[in-house]
Amino acid sequence: MDPAKLILDGKEYELPIVVGSEKEVGIDISKLRGTTGAITADSGYGNTGSCLSTITFINGEKGILRYRGYPIEEIAKSASFTEVIHLLVYGHLPNKQELEELTNQLKSHRELPKGMKSFFDAFPTTAHPMAVFSSMISALSTFYPAAKDEEEVNLNVIRLLAKQAALAAYAYKHSVGQPYVDPRSDLTYTQDFLHMMYAEPPKAYEVPEVLDEALNLLLILHADHEQNCSTSTVRMVGSSQANLYASMSAGVGALWGPLHGGANQAVIEMLEMIRKDDMNFKKYTDMAKDKSSGFRLMGFGHRVYKNFDPRATILKEVAAKVLEGLGIEDPLLEIAKNLEKIATEDEYFLQRGLYPNVDFYSGIIYRAMGIPTDMFTVMFALGRMAGWISQWKEMRADPKGRIYRPRQVYMGETQRPFVPVDKR
Ligand code: ACO
Repeated sequence: MDPAKLILDGKEYELPIVVGSEKEVGIDISKLRGTTGAITADSGYGNTGSCLSTITFINGEKGILRYRGYPIEEIAKSASFTEVIHLLVYGHLPNKQELEELTNQLKSHRELPKGMKSFFDAFPTTAHPMAVFSSMISALSTFYPAAKDEEEVNLNVIRLLAKQAALAAYAYKHSVGQPYVDPRSDLTYTQDFLHMMYAEPPKAYEVPEVLDEALNLLLILHADHEQNCSTSTVRMVGSSQANLYASMSAGVGALWGPLHGGANQAVIEMLEMIRKDDMNFKKYTDMAKDKSSGFRLMGFGHRVYKNFDPRATILKEVAAKVLEGLGIEDPLLEIAKNLEKIATEDEYFLQRGLYPNVDFYSGIIYRAMGIPTDMFTVMFALGRMAGWISQWKEMRADPKGRIYRPRQVYMGETQRPFVPVDKR
């Protein structure tokens, strides 16, 4: 493809083109300031390609999501989360031996370092589990300081992926005042997490298959989503060569917000509000359309998807199955379906391409699984950790990688003399 041409102040400049493997076109502006003196203005990075990546492909118009070329629908149908970790972090689907090796590595690093459990006790029981989770990930770097070489980096990757299950489960256990349950190496990754969440020793806990399958699917569907807010944060922090734990803890912080991963909690709160308000759907859709209300339909809309989010399509179906499998009737599922129907037939939402996103139905499944609302975003983070780590590794391996450092267009005061306090 020919280079793009830019005319600035009457002068013409050529800008090279980068074409991705799915024919996506990027205009390379990396030399723009050096040659023209100008920068681009793109608040919220809506049109900025911050990196070249081989991990995840999304086509928002067609509702396509693929991890390393594999369609999410196919992965969701038959993979285990451990296979997806391998696919994302090491770049290819594991063969039997590789899967066994990774499974064993993850098993052997599940225990938290000695003394760390007592850290949880120091937090108030009212602490939001996301605050505890991100603090504990950061705290891992006090036990495993900066890696000296790639071998140690890889060991830290395994440690984090293995231990995050206990970190999340103990954040929950602390909030409900129950003792922490030790990991069990005879269980799979997902079974062990559920065991650490729900076992109340000395009583034995049998992990129901339906919960195990639902968790596996949820972790897979949340595993990566290219350069979203939290992943960009992870890359941003990692670009300063901050360690793995510091970078991932920052990702958890970015995910927490209600416009990002925190939306799964906000959706349930919104659906509850609608229920208590006698299913007054119109009131809520009207409020969402009225910018002055400050209210948005949570779990609706996406920067990239403008037709449908394939993850939401899968989750809508699974939500009904999980509820059925557990013999639970949740009125919120019907409320969600009604709200989706009303909003997706409304001109306002249609015109703006606003459809349910991954967070719209996931909360209903988490609820059915007995996971409290304020743990929902931690559940999201458990899945996304695989993607964050793969993106972080890719960023570090890029020979042209530089510290992330955007520019700005300054709109403030021009130079003026300082006025001493008694003369102001
Ligand atoms: N309800 C009502 N109106 C909305 C919504 C919504 N949920 N989302 C976007 N809009 C409107 C905006 O007001 C805007 O209208 P305008 O063109 O008249 O000004 C238009 O749609 C475009 O919205 P933007 O805010 O520019 O879209 P952006 O790409 O910046 O934001 C976001 C995407 C944050 C997801 C947004 O749709 C939103 O706030 N959704 C609700 C929160 C949510 O569900 N977040 C989870 C996203 S998925 C994830 O992160 C895992």
